[in-house]
Amino acid sequence: MPRVTAQGKSIECPAGANLRQVLLKHGIGVHNGAAVALNCQGLGTCGTCAALVEGDVTPMEWREQARLDLAPHRIDAGRRLTCQVQIQGDVRVTKFEGFWGQGSEPEWTAAGPNRSHHGWPPGKCG
Ligand code: FES
Repeated sequence: MPRVTAQGKSIECPAGANLRQVLLKHGIGVHNGAAVALNCQGLGTCGTCAALVEGDVTPMEWREQARLDLAPHRIDAGRRLTCQVQIQGDVRVTKFEGFWGQGSEPEWTAAGPNRSHHGWPPGKCG
C-alpha cells in the first residue's frame, strides 16, 4: 500500500485515495489560518490546499492547472492542490505559509513541524 509522509506522520492508504482527504482524516491540516474554514471543500477552486507533493501521484489536470496559474500561486512554484491529487505510490508532503499555502517558508514538512516558523502551531499565520 502507498505511504504518505507528512508532518512527521507516516500513513498507509489505498492506491487512488485523495491526498487532501487522507491528510485531514489523520489530523494533518492542509489549510492555513482562516482558510481552515474558508475553503472550497475540495472542489479545486479556492487554491488554499496547495502543498509541495513529492512522489507517485496522478498528473495535473486542467482544473488544477487553471487554479495554480492564478495569483498568488505560480504554476512554476511546483505546488499541487492536494484535493486534486490521487495517491498512486509513496508520497512526501510539505505545506508552506500563507492563506493559499503560496509562501516560501514551510509551515511543516514531511519530517514534522517547522518549529522555527512563527506560525507554529499550524493555523496561526495567514
Ligand atoms: S480545497 Fe479548495 S482547491 Fe483544494
